[in-house]
Amino acid sequence: MHDLKVLLTRQQIATRVAEMGRQITNDFAGEPVVLVGVLKGAAIFLSDLSRQLDLDATFDFIAVSSYGNQKQNGGEVKLLKDVDQSMAGRNVILVEDILDTGLTIAYLKNVILAHQPKAVRIAALLDKRSRRKVPIEGDYVGFQIPDEFVVGYGMDYAERYRNLPDICVVA
Ligand code: IMP
Ligand code: MG
Repeated sequence: MHDLKVLLTRQQIATRVAEMGRQITNDFAGEPVVLVGVLKGAAIFLSDLSRQLDLDATFDFIAVSSYGNQKQNGGEVKLLKDVDQSMAGRNVILVEDILDTGLTIAYLKNVILAHQPKAVRIAALLDKRSRRKVPIEGDYVGFQIPDEFVVGYGMDYAERYRNLPDICVVA
């Protein structure tokens, strides 16, 4: 077992996700959107965020190679599962748990752009901006956090702790 310290409570997360949902609803008022979740870490965030959208929304999912049992991104991103539907001409919201080096989301944004969507936006619950290696920012960001490894609310350490309702720092 690891020593876990709560960084963001379930109440703080719920409040912020509701705010993000209102902002996205205003920005896309009257237009359909497709939420593209990055498996597996964004699954819980996507399910909560989607229920805060007063929009015509559909879901799709994409998967990339993960860190495995390490805490570092090796700099290589591999597409394990592409989207199921065409993204051409659509309003795409890439839904990610956390922006770290930015390599993953920069790669995925290019994957989506190759489909010639109407728009692509990035919604990330967390952002460790100090760790960025490529210049990319989220359009909707829940919380800026320090350079610490976090788990819970979908995020894992070696596949564990995804089901924790609060976001915790692994000591
Ligand atoms: P990036 O390509 O370095 O931005 O990595 C982003 C991905 O790394 C996220 O989708 C997460 O899956 C994973 N990741 C980065 N930091 C953490 C963390 O603190 N806890 C759990 N996963 C993380
Ligand atoms: Mg991830």
